[in-house]
Amino acid sequence: MSEIFDQAKALLEEIKNASIQTPEELEQFRIKYIGSKGLVKGLFGHMRSVAPEQKKEFGLLVNEVKQTAENKHKSLKENLSASSSEKVEIPDLSLNAGTEFTGSRHPISIVKNDIIEIFSRIGFDVVEGPEIEDDWHNFTGLNTPEHHPARDMQDTFYIQTDPVRLLRTQTSSVQVRVMENQQPPIRIICPGRVYRNETISARAHCVFHQVEGLYIDKGVSFADLKQMLLYFARSYFGPETKIRLRPSYFPFTEPSAEVDISCFICGGDGCSICKKTGWVEILGCGMVDPNVLESSGIDPDVYSGYAWGMGIERPAMLKYKIDDIRLFYENDIRFLKQFAKA
Ligand code: DAH
Repeated sequence: MSEIFDQAKALLEEIKNASIQTPEELEQFRIKYIGSKGLVKGLFGHMRSVAPEQKKEFGLLVNEVKQTAENKHKSLKENLSASSSEKVEIPDLSLNAGTEFTGSRHPISIVKNDIIEIFSRIGFDVVEGPEIEDDWHNFTGLNTPEHHPARDMQDTFYIQTDPVRLLRTQTSSVQVRVMENQQPPIRIICPGRVYRNETISARAHCVFHQVEGLYIDKGVSFADLKQMLLYFARSYFGPETKIRLRPSYFPFTEPSAEVDISCFICGGDGCSICKKTGWVEILGCGMVDPNVLESSGIDPDVYSGYAWGMGIERPAMLKYKIDDIRLFYENDIRFLKQFAKA
C-alpha cells in the first residue's frame, strides 16, 4: 500500500520541479497533471483501493498534489500572460512619431514667407544684406547725397561717424549691393529688418520689416511694374483686389508712385481700417532712376528697371486684424500662440 503513497509523493516532486517557460509548455503541464484525464485525477481513482484507516492521510496527500499543481499552473499563467502582454506593448518603431507642439512661426515670418512665395513663382530670387550699413548703400548710392532734403524723410540711427555707420533705414540698400555685383537681368526681393528713430506708438515702431523688390533688364516699362503690382495684390489680398497708383516722390525712382489696394475688409465701401476711404496704402515704387543705375555700374541707356518697397507689419496687421504694432516685438506667448497651426 505504501507504493501508492510513494507514487503520489513522486508526482508531487515532479510537479514542483516541472520547468515551464512558454505558454505551450504550460498547456502541456495542465493536460498532463490537472486535466480531466490527468495524473492528479488518476490519483483520486486510487482512493478506493486505499485501506480505510489510511484514507484520510492519502486524501490529504492527494489534495496537496492537486493544490500544488493548480497553484503552480495559476501563477505561471499569470506570469506568462503578463510578460506576453508586455511584449504587445512594445511600441512599433516603424510608426510615425506623434507631432509634438514645439512653437509657432512669428506672424511677421509668416507674412514674409507668403510674400517670398508669391514672388518666387514669377522668378524673383531672395537676397539679404547687412543691417549695419554705410552711408553709400543706404543713401548716396540711392541718389540721396548728403544734405539732400530726402534724408529728412527717414530718421536715421547713426552708430558711428567716421566712417559713417548706421542702422539701415530701408532695404533699398540691398538693391545697391546687388547692382554693384551683378549685371542685368536682375530680379530680386530683399526682405529684412530696418530701423528708424521714431516715437514708438500703436502705429509706429523704431524697428520694423520691409521687402524691397528690383527688376532690371532691357526694355522694362512702367506697364510691367503695374502688372506685377496687380499680380501681387491679387495673390496676397485676394482675386477681387483692385490697385490704385498715386504720383509720389522717392529719390531713387523716377517716376515714383504710392500704391493703394482696395480695402479687403469692407471691399471698398469704407470701414475703420481704410478710414472710410475704401483704399489702403501698401507700398512705394517707381522706375529706377538712371542716376542709381549709373552709380552702381549699370548702363541706363541699355537697361531700365522698376523697384518697390513695402513694409511687412502693415499687411500683417491688416490680414490678422492686429491693432497695435508693438505686439509684434513683445513676444507675449498669448499673442504668438494664436498663429500656431493646429
Ligand atoms: N525705401 C522706401 C521707404 O523705405 C520704399 C520704396 C519706395 C522702395 C519706392 C523702393 C521704391 O524701391 O521704388 O520708404
